Amino acid sequence: MTVTCSVYIAASLDGFIARPDGDIDWLHNPAYTLPDGENDFGYEAFMATVDALVMGSYSYEKVLSFDSWPYGAKKVVVLTQRPLSPPTDPAANVSFDSGPPANIVARQAQAGARHLYIDGGQTIQRFLRAGLIDQMIITQIPILLGSGIPLFGDLGVEIPLRLQHSRAFANGFVQNQYQIEKEEGRRKKVESRR
Ligand SMILES: NC(=O)c1ccc[n+]([C@@H]2O[C@H](COP(=O)([O-])OP(=O)(O)OC[C@H]3O[C@@H](n4cnc5c(N)ncnc54)[C@H](OP(=O)(O)O)[C@@H]3O)[C@@H](O)[C@H]2O)c1
Repeated sequence: MTVTCSVYIAASLDGFIARPDGDIDWLHNPAYTLPDGENDFGYEAFMATVDALVMGSYSYEKVLSFDSWPYGAKKVVVLTQRPLSPPTDPAANVSFDSGPPANIVARQAQAGARHLYIDGGQTIQRFLRAGLIDQMIITQIPILLGSGIPLFGDLGVEIPLRLQHSRAFANGFVQNQYQIEKEEGRRKKVESRR
């Protein structure tokens, strides 16, 4: 059964998803507020198509620091090799898994998932290296953070993308939707210069 793996994430213009200490407050700058009904950036419509979120443990720990659990009863699979606690919200549907991305996708497919939302920088990078990401919706925030947690970093592989859709918002956000070229031979290994 085919499973689609998607990324939906916000990044600074210089490619960071969080400050070096994991802070994401810069995403919630009041200057970015749009009129009611325009602040969603397609998130709810995207989430409605998602069967399960697969997120790295660092992203999960950040979400646990929020005032409330934001995913309701949506299935969330946290990737970790550490013993982590589930959220206190009784509605939360969280399980823990680890191992190669292909095995994680296979287990979710077995459980009936058709669309996975892959989240967290390192986690996205692991899934990209494994050739498992199908599409990425990246909202570019008009800020240069200078340093931080990278969305892509040194992937060690060159991955051609096809732009499917691009939308600019009045607050300066630019949302690009890419399809990943998956044909063999289109991915190129990149020699590290270090
Ligand atoms: N800008 C945005 O829209 C956005 C979205 C999401 C997250 N963020 C931010 O990004 C930061 C987190 O990203 P990150 O790149 O640091 O890390 P991450 O991808 O959230 O988590 C990485 C960690 O997850 C565990 N993990 C990942 N894949 C695994 C696998 N296959 N098997 C076992 N364990 C696995 C490993 O830790 P252990 O095994 O040690 O647990 C790994 O070090 C947070 O600050 C978060 O707030 C921003």
